[in-house]
Amino acid sequence: MADAYSKDLERWIPRLIAVWRKARRKGDGPETRLTPQEVKEVGAGVKQLSLGLTRERQLAGAKYMDDPKLLGAYLLFYWPVSYAQARQALGELPNRPRHVLDLGSGPGPLAFAALDAGAQEVTAADRSKPALTLARELATEAGEALATREWDPTRKAPLPEGQFDLITMGHVLNELYGTGDGAIGPRAALLEQVLAQVKKGGSLLVLEPALKETSRALLKVRDVLVGKGYAVRAPCMFRGNCPALIKESDWCHAERSWPMPHVVEELARAAGLHKESLKMSYLMLAPKGEPWPELPQGRLFRIVSEPLEGKGRQRYIGCGPEGRVGLAMQEKHRTEKNERFFKLYRGDVISVTETEPKGDGLALDGRSELKMVAHAGRGIPPPSTENP
Ligand SMILES: C[S@@+](CC[C@H](N)C(=O)[O-])C[C@H]1O[C@@H](n2cnc3c(N)ncnc32)[C@H](O)[C@@H]1O
Repeated sequence: MADAYSKDLERWIPRLIAVWRKARRKGDGPETRLTPQEVKEVGAGVKQLSLGLTRERQLAGAKYMDDPKLLGAYLLFYWPVSYAQARQALGELPNRPRHVLDLGSGPGPLAFAALDAGAQEVTAADRSKPALTLARELATEAGEALATREWDPTRKAPLPEGQFDLITMGHVLNELYGTGDGAIGPRAALLEQVLAQVKKGGSLLVLEPALKETSRALLKVRDVLVGKGYAVRAPCMFRGNCPALIKESDWCHAERSWPMPHVVEELARAAGLHKESLKMSYLMLAPKGEPWPELPQGRLFRIVSEPLEGKGRQRYIGCGPEGRVGLAMQEKHRTEKNERFFKLYRGDVISVTETEPKGDGLALDGRSELKMVAHAGRGIPPPSTENP
């Protein structure tokens, strides 16, 4: 999956650097790299953003995009991350979107991801004027047509008019309406309003950080919308309340390998962060009245954990139409028909046969057959299509 967008992402790096240097109005440097002094300067901003948006969260909902130092750090570090996350998630869309609205766009990583994935017209909307200015400058640099609009739902500013094939909201929902359970109702109400502007067959894609707090909040919003009859296109196959919310210690997130650009690697190092894989929580919703996707035959599970290796056995948490269950198999039961079980990734969708209830999960054995239904980051094929 990563290969499909790695060249596109690589092309963005000199554009991001050029637009950042222009906005900063001092210094030239190599096209595709930052100078050591620039790495130090931007790395300090990345560290501040990372603490404020993840660990301490005091920046969530604050106007950090209006601070040139933090906006610059966002552009050179978080922009490529959000772009890659969006390209991964867009790979699961049932059809290619033409008209797209990106809400809480910041400098537009999701907007440009949609354009690179084939969208024709994208509108980026945010409350931060400086972030929208950067998005327009990036569009000029890339020769793309991007419209921008100011928008702030907490000030009752109306949504940009129109009907869209895809509306994206990248890492913005968790910044709206405060913290705690009091934010769930207003966030769900906003998504309902947004979904009313998604065309039939289209989708709303919500990306959120993979933190326990933000991920659980997204799952709670999911439950409100599912309770009102909205269908989830991805990643859930379970149609009831999210089973990850039962235990306070659980949450659900995706993790993918990605072609990390050199500049991101350098800035992560300068800011003292570990950023190897892409982690995110996401939800792709269908507009009102659309059914849940039809699933292929078989007993299906999406792998929602990392591999949990034990003595002589392999284990994962799976989640599928029957809920969230542990899946385990002992090494001694490995056969040609089930050996894939030993190399699954978080996000893969599999079908299994011949399982036995064991503990609070299911055990596969030598009779079990396992098929790959969809690799992580790919859409689940409809029932008529053969497995890849
Ligand atoms: C973490 S950034 C995400 C930017 C981009 N969508 C991404 O995924 O990288 C959050 C964005 O939400 C915007 N935002 C926060 N509160 C907002 C509000 N009340 N109205 C509109 N935008 C808001 C911020 O200005 C910022 O651009």
